[in-house]
Parts: sequence; C-alpha cells; structure tokens
Amino acid sequence: MESSEDRRKDFCEFYHRLLSPRVAALVVALRDDGKPNVMPAAWHTPVSVKPPVLAVCISPSRYTHSLILKNKEFTINVPDLSMKDAVEMAGSKSGKDFDKSSLFKFTPATKIKTPLIEGAIGTIECELNQAIDVGDHSVLFGNVVACQARGFGEVWKGKSPLLHLGSSFYTVMKEGNPQ
Ligand SMILES: Cc1cc2nc3c(=O)[nH]c(=O)nc-3n(C[C@H](O)[C@H](O)[C@H](O)COP(=O)(O)O)c2cc1C
Repeated sequence: MESSEDRRKDFCEFYHRLLSPRVAALVVALRDDGKPNVMPAAWHTPVSVKPPVLAVCISPSRYTHSLILKNKEFTINVPDLSMKDAVEMAGSKSGKDFDKSSLFKFTPATKIKTPLIEGAIGTIECELNQAIDVGDHSVLFGNVVACQARGFGEVWKGKSPLLHLGSSFYTVMKEGNPQ
C-alpha cells in the first residue's frame, strides 16, 4: 500500500505538471555561424508589465543557454498545432550536434539580430536582462523589446497556441471564448 510519504515524493517530482498546460514556446538564439538554433521551452512566465519582462527557465545543459548568455538576446515564438512535429524534433535534439535551422522558416526580427519563426502566431523579441541559476535550470530574464501576434485580441481567436502538458503530451484550446 502506498504510504503518505510515497505520495509526497511523487508529488514533488512531478509538481510542475500541475502547472500545465503552458505554451510550447520556441526559443530562438543565434549560433556562432549565424544560423538560428531553436529549442522548445514550456517553463516561462511574464514577470513584469512596466517594463515588459519575461522569464524562461533553461537548463545550462541546453545549447540555447550558452548562446543566449553569449549573444544577450533571443526570440520567443508561439507555435500552433501545425508545428507540433517540428517542435518535438527541436526538443529531442541539441543544436550542439544537429543543425536545427532547417526545421523552421525564419523572418527578420524588428529590433534584434535573432530572427523570428515564420508562421508563428505570436513572436516576442527579448534582450537578456539577467540570468540566475536555480537548481537544475537557470532563469533567464528577457526585456521585451518588440512583440507581434496574429489572431490575438484579449484572448487567442482562430488558431490555438500549441500547449504542452508535459512529457510528449500536448493540447490546444477549444475554439471560442469561455462563457
Ligand atoms: C514541449 C517541450 C518543452 C520543453 N521545455 C523546456 C524548458 O522549459 N526548459 C528546458 O531547459 N528544456 C525544455 N525542453 C527540452 C529542450 O527543448 C531540449 O533539451 C532541446 O533539445 C534543447 O536544445 P538545444 O540543446 O539545441 O538548446 C522542452 C522540450 C519540449 C519538447
């Protein structure tokens, strides 16, 4: 029989699943050869509106982590369901040993050198504010310098962002507004 201690242990190991779903955001950072590297990141949050600042939690083991610390900028791109296969591919291989630039099409950003993903339903351009190491991830704070969206009023209308539930599970929002 499962003890209360076992339950507590499982709960702690998977606590982050209780905070899902979250947008499977695509983080783009520039490689040394100038090509874009893409990694999905679901651990992100806005942290300030005035000034606009967001945070994304990236393990130092990710290639993206070193690229952002070096270039001091990155873009966040909101995929829809049509990009699910490319999202999974970008999340299963590291740019350290695989050129992921052919998985997506890119378009220039407006304020920074790092490009945006063409076809993304939302894009955010960030300059690195600071990075703080916490446990097995670092929290990278980005000053939002530009932001664009298709189909976004007060809530997303039309295509839903691709939402990550954890592991290899995804979902999307039902069309229409909650009543
Ligand atoms: C949907 C999804 C969400 C992910 N979220 C994160 C995350 O928030 N932080 C993180 O460090 N890794 C996350 N990962 C894992 C990285 O995307 C994965 O390790 C990737 O291959 C790293 O690429 P890179 O080494 O080229 O930077 C996620 C993967 C997927 C598929």
